[in-house]
Amino acid sequence: MEEKIRPSGPGRRAVVAAASVVPGLRSIAFRLRRQRISRRYLRGEGLEIGALHRPLPIPRGVSVRYVDRMDVADLRAHYPELRDEQLVEVDIIDNGETLGSQPDASVDFIIANHFIEHTEDPIGALANQLRVVRPGGILYLAVPDRRKTFDADREPQPLDHIVRDHRGGPAWSRPIHQEEWARLVEKVVPKEIPARVQWLEDHDYSIHFHVWDPDEFRLLLEFARDQEHLPFAIEQLARNDHEFIAILRRT
Ligand SMILES: C[S@@+](CC[C@H](N)C(=O)[O-])C[C@H]1O[C@@H](n2cnc3c(N)ncnc32)[C@H](O)[C@@H]1O
Repeated sequence: MEEKIRPSGPGRRAVVAAASVVPGLRSIAFRLRRQRISRRYLRGEGLEIGALHRPLPIPRGVSVRYVDRMDVADLRAHYPELRDEQLVEVDIIDNGETLGSQPDASVDFIIANHFIEHTEDPIGALANQLRVVRPGGILYLAVPDRRKTFDADREPQPLDHIVRDHRGGPAWSRPIHQEEWARLVEKVVPKEIPARVQWLEDHDYSIHFHVWDPDEFRLLLEFARDQEHLPFAIEQLARNDHEFIAILRRT
């Protein structure tokens, strides 16, 4: 289970204990799978959102600018558990859910690995990423499989929930997710949960707001395409160890 980013604070020990160590070979296979799919689909110039310590390997001749919600110094403070890792230099500080700094149809691809689960409005995030990608371009999304990470004790959120986050705005569900994160991921004892939720809010801590397995994620994609009329085709949905990789082509 290669999920290095873990919450700091009272729940950290439990989360660390829940994560198993990845044997070397498994880790190499994981990286090669990401790389093979990258070689197959990525051309031209693009963006990677939230690369952090694990930028996607890209084919020769392809160029990427790196987007994150904060600079490297702030990322280091946010993720103290990555102190021994090299972090990618951030080229563009922006909210990856809205990409307000990026013009329409301005890149050939967007990579967003282990990012969509951090979004409060996943349908809105997909819509904005598709807005920025040129027709024919690619969204490369690796998503942790909730059954195989520290999210294993969480229930999947119903599709209705994500639709409500999109149509009415996600403010209503933010404290619900923070409570769920404290209780089921960090395993904070009940009497300390309110204080932990307040800490998460005060630090704008980047929790997994939503979690999926591959079938649940496909349902979300089909809903976004067929009911929200987002312009994309599903090229591939491939399992890769504790994650799955969705390749969407902008139509
Ligand atoms: C779990 S890390 C992903 C690391 C790496 N891409 C991987 O595959 O493991 C999530 C990244 O997304 C970034 N992130 C979270 N929310 C964001 C937002 N709203 N806008 C931009 N970046 C965001 C975080 O700062 C972090 O760099």
